[in-house]
Amino acid sequence: MTDDDLLSRADAIAERAYAPYSNFHVGVAVLLRDGTVIEGVNVENASYPLTVCGEKNAISTAITEGYGPGDFEAIAVNASPCGGCRQWLWQMKFDRVIFRNAGKVVTMAPDELLPETFDDL
Ligand code: THU
Repeated sequence: MTDDDLLSRADAIAERAYAPYSNFHVGVAVLLRDGTVIEGVNVENASYPLTVCGEKNAISTAITEGYGPGDFEAIAVNASPCGGCRQWLWQMKFDRVIFRNAGKVVTMAPDELLPETFDDL
């Protein structure tokens, strides 16, 4: 699975987002070190702050499947990850994050996306 293929998976799954309020459809594809790909989308709620980002949904599914920090190789997102999601990406120790931002494809490490990160471990 190349990074381009992973981003294509993220682009495609965005169609399943539940985003009736923002109409901003976020699609995410997570590549595990064993080659498994797990997808996620944003899920909004009438009480707006209860919305869950696509990144958190994909990571939560991976955790439910039995994966943990160190198992995560890469994540592709069809948008630039929000600040809260950057903390999640850092916690799961991804090698790289591939995302779309202002018409460009950007690849960065979690500690570049969130320098001097909070860490209680
Ligand atoms: N959103 C995500 O799913 N991930 C991010 O990193 C940025 C924001 C969602 C939340 C909301 O449903 C919509 O995008 C607009 O903010």
